[in-house]
Amino acid sequence: MNRPRRNRRTPAIRSMVRETTLSPADFILPMFLHEDPVDTAIDSMPGVTRWCLDSLVREAGEAHALGIPAVVLFPKIEDALKSPLAEQSHHDNGLVPRAIRALKAAHSTLCVITDVALDPYNSDGHDGIVHRGAHGELTILNDETVDVLCLQALCHARAGADIVAPSDMMDGRVAAIRDMLDGEDFTHVSILSYTAKYASAFYGPFRGALDSAPKAGDKKTYQMDPANSREAVRETLLDGAEGADILMVKPAGLYLDIIAKVRETTLLPVAAYQVSGEYLMLKSAAAGGWLDERAIVLESLLAIKRAGASMILTYFATQAAIWLREH
Ligand code: PBG
Repeated sequence: MNRPRRNRRTPAIRSMVRETTLSPADFILPMFLHEDPVDTAIDSMPGVTRWCLDSLVREAGEAHALGIPAVVLFPKIEDALKSPLAEQSHHDNGLVPRAIRALKAAHSTLCVITDVALDPYNSDGHDGIVHRGAHGELTILNDETVDVLCLQALCHARAGADIVAPSDMMDGRVAAIRDMLDGEDFTHVSILSYTAKYASAFYGPFRGALDSAPKAGDKKTYQMDPANSREAVRETLLDGAEGADILMVKPAGLYLDIIAKVRETTLLPVAAYQVSGEYLMLKSAAAGGWLDERAIVLESLLAIKRAGASMILTYFATQAAIWLREH
């Protein structure tokens, strides 16, 4: 008789037949930062902190020492520096370029990834430049935004970023950023594209962390409809052709079918972002004493990897790396 249970009989056998394993090298730690000299606990994301520059460098170093290869930076920009054209997004002495330089100076082997999108810098709170029509209707301008994203990517590359990650979902931005970087001798800087980024309600806590929610309207004219999966394949083919190095799916846990589909469509590495709302769901279930935090977090990350992601952006990165070491 065929007995699949033989392969589950002992821990040793199970460890030999295991198809997917997690390692700290799979994780990318998203980090929030601000200009203030002190760290601030983020109300909308219990257990997550917005760091001042010194703490950012220290915390990134601790994560790196645990085997986490990369961090991705998300700045909270003061209201006074926000504008309709988001000029602060490509200021060489802005918060992000200074953070990149500080991180690279302190931890030469750490991979520094930056988010390329205008929302933290844009007084309208959108990822792109907003145009108001005669009747007050909002349009997010595509090509005008791409021009600014290219300046932002270049500014991050000049500061020493290893990877730029456009999260804006404008059309054609991967090719434009690649051209800009290549033309300025940054052929070695990679593009991690948010390829299939959905208009998800699970980004709410993140927008609270950065005070970056859209002032009017929503993001549905550029982020994808959660109802669609063939469209993710279309975006995958486009970003691959435009020269992206890594393709990302976001959110992750509720979009495992999309991760699997993107994995089957491309030969490029696939990343997935376990977003703020996913973090909050797991964290609050654990805080209520209803579910075992370590078990649910590691299972959620394993599922994302099993679906086809080679790397996972997760707010649990440091904690998960510690848990995996204890194994
Ligand atoms: C902004 C950006 C967002 C996230 C990453 N980059 C928010 C958004 O698109 O509104 C969300 C991350 C999270 O929820 O953890 N371009």
